[in-house]
Amino acid sequence: MVWKDRRVLVTGGASFIGSALVDALVERGAKVRVADNLSSGELENIERHVREGSVKFLEGDLLRQDFAKQAVRDCEVVFHLAADHGGRGYIDLHQAACATNLTLDGVVFLACREAKVGKVVYASSGCVYPNHLQTDPSKTVYLTEDQVGPPYDADKMYGWAKLMAEMTLRAYYHDWGMKSVSCRLFTVYGERGHENHAVIAMIARAYLKQDPFVVWGDGHQIRNWTHVSDIVSGMLLAAEKIDDATAINLGTTERTRVIDAVDEVLRYTGHHAKIELHPEMPTGPMNRVADNSLAKRLLGWEPTIMFREGLRRTIDWYFATKKPPEVSLAVDSMLTERSLTAGR
Ligand SMILES: NC(=O)c1ccc[n+]([C@@H]2O[C@H](COP(=O)([O-])OP(=O)(O)OC[C@H]3O[C@@H](n4cnc5c(N)ncnc54)[C@H](O)[C@@H]3O)[C@@H](O)[C@H]2O)c1
Repeated sequence: MVWKDRRVLVTGGASFIGSALVDALVERGAKVRVADNLSSGELENIERHVREGSVKFLEGDLLRQDFAKQAVRDCEVVFHLAADHGGRGYIDLHQAACATNLTLDGVVFLACREAKVGKVVYASSGCVYPNHLQTDPSKTVYLTEDQVGPPYDADKMYGWAKLMAEMTLRAYYHDWGMKSVSCRLFTVYGERGHENHAVIAMIARAYLKQDPFVVWGDGHQIRNWTHVSDIVSGMLLAAEKIDDATAINLGTTERTRVIDAVDEVLRYTGHHAKIELHPEMPTGPMNRVADNSLAKRLLGWEPTIMFREGLRRTIDWYFATKKPPEVSLAVDSMLTERSLTAGR
């Protein structure tokens, strides 16, 4: 697929991942439109492109059919990233809000079908995987795409909505021929990330020189944190190479324990602190790491940024751009919310 002059919509394009995707599409010469209600996205993330005329920004709520229809009109490719989504604290504590994604995805997909959009690229999640496969951190488990099946056991309402969206897209392809691909993103981190996700929360606490240094859970949870630039390259390749609503993992196979990530943050930032574990706080699955052989085979995709390198880049960005008052506010509110003012 040639991106130059292609008419592309990115829903949720003002978000952390969405704006990185927008950067890559603009660089490739696509005609990019962003639809976002700025409920957690920030206009600042795409402001330069809007000012320079390379991105058209539509502010509105994609739960509204009229806005969704306007957003997708004349688009060849729709990257659908808009979602009511936050970090682990948010996903655990806001079931009703996450359930609105069932409607949001339904409205967007129907609008895409009616507008005869050529391809939908969906931001799914590792949260579609059965919880019961992810309980034992002593096991070396790599989640393969075919493990999502009966008995389904997705991660909270957020995971069920992602799963329903994948299934909807499969049905749309089989019954109506609408082309799509679902990208199962695994714990994404990097520049422009939010404090409601673990890695940025650790960095924010180091920035504030928190002591004792709070860690949710017992620290033994395993994740495969994947840098946003690798996610973006994977989503673009998925758009180029998959038509038939296949769901594909985008994640590294590096297995990192939360406590080891914390140690690296403390080491790199030079912060010496006593670690205080909070096992009563939301922690998510104990062992979630992707198998990425399908992405290698179908897309020729492999992550290029090792966690330690990406973490250091992210710390450098955070320390260079943030100011103490906003970081304090974020650490107070963002761990369970999706914007600085939510829940106040
Ligand atoms: N960050 C991760 O680790 C991760 C992992 C798996 C999947 N994802 C998915 O990737 C996508 C982007 O996530 P993110 O982490 O960059 O940030 P995010 O969750 O903040 O992005 C969501 C974006 O959608 C917008 N939005 C929400 N509801 C909307 C509505 N009704 N109408 C219009 N816009 C709306 C928000 O303002 C925001 O810009 C989401 O779909 C998320 O579920 C993220």
